[in-house]
Amino acid sequence: MRLVLITREQDMTQQQTPTRPVQSLSLADRHLTLMTPHRESRYHYIWLRDNCWCDECRVAQSAERRIYTADIPANIAPLEAHLDEDVTTLNIQWSDGHESSFSLRWLAANDYSNGAGEPSPAATLWTSSLGSPPRFDHGEVLGRPDVQLAYLDALREYGAAIVSNTPSVDGEVARFAEVVGHVRETAFERVHNVRHDPQGYNVAHTPLELKPHTDLPSYHWPPSIQLLHFLVNESSGGESTLVDGWAVLADLRRENPAAFETLCRVPVTFQLFSEDEDTRATASLVQLDTSGRVQTLRFSNQLALPLHAPFEDVGEFYDAYRLLGQMIDSDHYKIVFKCHSGDLLTVHSHRVLHGRKAFDPESGARHLQDVYMEYDDLMDRHNVLSGTHKPMPSTGVDLK
Ligand code: OGA
Ligand code: ZN
Ligand code: ZN
Repeated sequence: MRLVLITREQDMTQQQTPTRPVQSLSLADRHLTLMTPHRESRYHYIWLRDNCWCDECRVAQSAERRIYTADIPANIAPLEAHLDEDVTTLNIQWSDGHESSFSLRWLAANDYSNGAGEPSPAATLWTSSLGSPPRFDHGEVLGRPDVQLAYLDALREYGAAIVSNTPSVDGEVARFAEVVGHVRETAFERVHNVRHDPQGYNVAHTPLELKPHTDLPSYHWPPSIQLLHFLVNESSGGESTLVDGWAVLADLRRENPAAFETLCRVPVTFQLFSEDEDTRATASLVQLDTSGRVQTLRFSNQLALPLHAPFEDVGEFYDAYRLLGQMIDSDHYKIVFKCHSGDLLTVHSHRVLHGRKAFDPESGARHLQDVYMEYDDLMDRHNVLSGTHKPMPSTGVDLK
């Protein structure tokens, strides 16, 4: 049965729409088009039907989808569609008997037909000229929502921030984590002590230099946030180093795409063990998101096991790894700064590598405590503090 499709031209000269003036609506076989003087926006019928926001299609109290997407007929189409008189709403009567209304403001905000794709993360890539990460005051981050939001914004933008004047008290770093998110537990201690310890299971327990690295690549999903709280840092040396891994990879990708591709492809196994634990994971050093952007860099020279890649990949891998390792350890990318007693350094550890210079354990005390967290939990906090956590319903009527 052929459907009756109505296209209705609207005179917009006297009208006001919130975002852009729609001048006409036209319907094709599988999608409709809204036209403004500047662009055409296209929406598939299946997508529109799936995003109906009436009480039958959504759970009113939670905005969750009630309509079961797979039950929508593949050939869903409008029997009739029109813009309302004041051109703020698109009304559709569907071939399955349902009726939907979509606000044009919502449609504009969710236009996927003009290369919108996913919004890009608000990251500013940096090199050594950053100097040191943005600083915030502990009391203010905990006591003032605007400062907490600024701290979370800095993490989103730079992947690193320092909170100074954190009380030098055992476990304070976990208390801080529970205010802005949650501690990510691992096989190792919830609060991890880093100080000179000849019995320690990790090179961090020696006074040796630690080249920039990411912790726990021995997990398939390594912790995406690391907090390093300096309870005391009075020994000579031991300056902190940070490198923006996403900046390194952006340059490597541009200068040597073949090496970048090798790092995305060749699997490396990492292991971290102690007397009681053994964590291992095999993955490529670089992982991309669905838009092809770098999402995760895992890099820990000290924890990589012997490479078990296909024979023909090994030479190429070492060539690419040499380039990456030299960039990571170069003065061009690395910032070097001293964390003082009471500094709590936060890093987005799927992006930013951390390390330290060698220190002299005889020259003064040095003790820090680490906990891990997940970036998603910090962004949850960010979204709630900035008031962007409730979706805009497609009807345009704000959620209560
Ligand atoms: C760590 C680490 C750095 C430092 O604990 O993971 O890298 O400054 N420590 O000791
Ligand atoms: Zn509905
Ligand atoms: Zn580390």
